[in-house]
Amino acid sequence: MTQPTESTADAAGRTAAVTVSAVDKTFDTRSGRVDALTAIDLTVSAGEFVSLIGPSGCGKSTLLRLIADLDQPTAGSVSVFGKSAKQARLDQDYGIAFQQAGLLPWRTVAANVGLPLELHGVSGGDRTARITELLEMVGLTDFADRYPDQLSGGMQQRVAIARSLAEKPDLLLMDEPFGALDEMTRERMQTELLRICAETGAAVVFVTHSIPEAVYLSDRVVVMSPRPGRIQQIVPMVLNRDPAHAEALREERAFFDGVTAVREALHAGSPVPTGARGVENR
Ligand SMILES: Nc1ncnc2c1ncn2[C@@H]1O[C@H](COP(=O)(O)OP(=O)(O)OP(=O)(O)O)[C@@H](O)[C@H]1O
Ligand SMILES: [Mg+2]
Repeated sequence: MTQPTESTADAAGRTAAVTVSAVDKTFDTRSGRVDALTAIDLTVSAGEFVSLIGPSGCGKSTLLRLIADLDQPTAGSVSVFGKSAKQARLDQDYGIAFQQAGLLPWRTVAANVGLPLELHGVSGGDRTARITELLEMVGLTDFADRYPDQLSGGMQQRVAIARSLAEKPDLLLMDEPFGALDEMTRERMQTELLRICAETGAAVVFVTHSIPEAVYLSDRVVVMSPRPGRIQQIVPMVLNRDPAHAEALREERAFFDGVTAVREALHAGSPVPTGARGVENR
């Protein structure tokens, strides 16, 4: 690993998974300029789980797209493991699971999941074994030979999640990956994601509208506010993340305290008694 420069190091001086420095993003549209993000500074350490939460339109997806080099900042810089966002994309340093599943319709479920392995030259037998393991993990073993349009939205999302995990990446960029899942499956996938992160040491940048989901998963929750999108507050979580403890966590005092802390951060400056628009309390 290359020696981190000061700007791409985390607080402990190690190379950060993601460094976002003084980033602005504006879109020029026919109806005028949209300031999507302003003055964003964020460092995600290696192995850290960071969620982005905030009302619809506050720039969460835009920020994730800048990290993934699917779009470029108007000002400021983004680096991933000490490289430019572009270089990290070319090197395929991360797995992506976005709001829309983004599957290739002409490939079967198994072939979609195996795509990153294929691109990196993982050979037949190893690839098949890994695909089997991933499909089992997301509960789609019986659907390996189906095509995406034969699956429900939630099943498609699970295929995309399996694909993002195929290469055990050191960084996962996930934009509402569990949005289309039923509550039971969603909880199972959350627990599974925590287990995978503990196992692989992956860092995650995770966009969600669900406060409990953010609290359950994250080391830190980044609360954003709209117009222009900015970081309002970063709320650290102090939960016991031992995977063996994962289910009990949902019933614990520390979990509910975390939910309250994030709710209050979301409502800071706007004393709304109920959930902020576009943010679920479930
Ligand atoms: N390609 C684009 N062209 C013009 N405006 C855009 C573009 N992409 C995003 N925006 C605008 O930038 C702002 C932030 O959008 P973004 O999709 O990042 O929000 P979000 O926080 O992900 O919202 P949601 O929770 O609804 O997914 C919005 O005002 C949106 O209209
Ligand atoms: Mg979005």
